[in-house]
Amino acid sequence: MSAPKKQHPVFVSVRDAQVHFRAGGALAALRGRARIIKAVDGVSFDIRKGESVGLLGESGCGKTTTGRMLLKLEEATGGSVTFDGADLGELRGEALKNFRTRAQLIFQNPFDAVNPRFTIRATLAEPLENARVPAAEREDRILAALELVRLPNPAEFLDRYPHQLSGGQLQRVVMARALILQPDFVVADEPVSMLDVSVRAGVLNVFRDVRDRLNLTAIYISHDLALVRYVCERTIVMYLGRIMEDGPTEDIVHEPLHPYTKALVAAVPVPHPDQDHAPLPIGRGAPDPLNPPSGCVFRDRCPQAHERCAAEIPAPRPVGSRLVACHLYEETAMAPAKEMA
Ligand SMILES: Nc1ncnc2c1ncn2[C@@H]1O[C@H](COP(=O)(O)OP(=O)(O)OP(=O)(O)O)[C@@H](O)[C@H]1O
Ligand SMILES: [Mg+2]
Repeated sequence: MSAPKKQHPVFVSVRDAQVHFRAGGALAALRGRARIIKAVDGVSFDIRKGESVGLLGESGCGKTTTGRMLLKLEEATGGSVTFDGADLGELRGEALKNFRTRAQLIFQNPFDAVNPRFTIRATLAEPLENARVPAAEREDRILAALELVRLPNPAEFLDRYPHQLSGGQLQRVVMARALILQPDFVVADEPVSMLDVSVRAGVLNVFRDVRDRLNLTAIYISHDLALVRYVCERTIVMYLGRIMEDGPTEDIVHEPLHPYTKALVAAVPVPHPDQDHAPLPIGRGAPDPLNPPSGCVFRDRCPQAHERCAAEIPAPRPVGSRLVACHLYEETAMAPAKEMA
């Protein structure tokens, strides 16, 4: 956690949370052949009010599932998620409705996030109608939300359809829709990955600016460290449903500790949102989530794996400014910690 936010109260608290899916559907379950995908497998972290946390990791490591779990779009199958003091598992009725207003998702692909038959006005009016905002107030709220995301001449867009906007413009509309009910928590799931590289920085700048102006607490999901670094003061690195490392983004970029984080950092030659990154220097694609290795899930790709890694799941431990889940840092935890102090 970075220094300025340290004193802020904990806003979202995740304790040993799991989201396990049954693979193969109902038929496989009937035949007793269902297998379990541990998309999120025992993660714990706190997010403080106003903090921006990046969720980083390769495809399939559980980033989206974690984000959906935080928004109660996916139920935790184990452990707990607490939002502003309320256990998400217990939320019902008005309290759940209130949570649905306060916590919003910004989708990865803006074209998937909107109904192609709705005008921009109708797209933005929908959440206002659901929240029973009086009709007379809606147009002003819509224009204010579009101004917030710096869409120039917003009135000109109201009667257009999604296909009449550029990807960057539409992503701003999607952001405006997520923000129109003035949430205090936002999960942005790869919000620029479908956009042309040339417009990414613009959209990210809007996201950062809005977040700061509204004092949003935010989760920013990406497989790209350069983008996470651009947006988040703190980064959580995930691999096969588990947290490998959690700490200040700049510390992670300058001195990654977990062997997996080291590989991710080595794949970003010059971290900048306009640049693509090199392939990971650890060979082989991510392993089969249905057959994760015993012990440390990263061990079969880890250049520093040893005997203990197959036998025992490493618990996250404090190492200097961070938490690291790696046996290398258990015996020698104090040495790297001292170096960093
Ligand atoms: N509804 C579901 N049913 C079964 N398995 C699922 C479901 N949703 C996700 N999974 C599996 O859970 C694992 C994690 O998926 P998730 O979408 O969270 O990963 P991700 O890190 O967001 O990946 P990407 O970078 O590709 O978006 C994957 O193996 C995925 O196939
Ligand atoms: Mg995803």
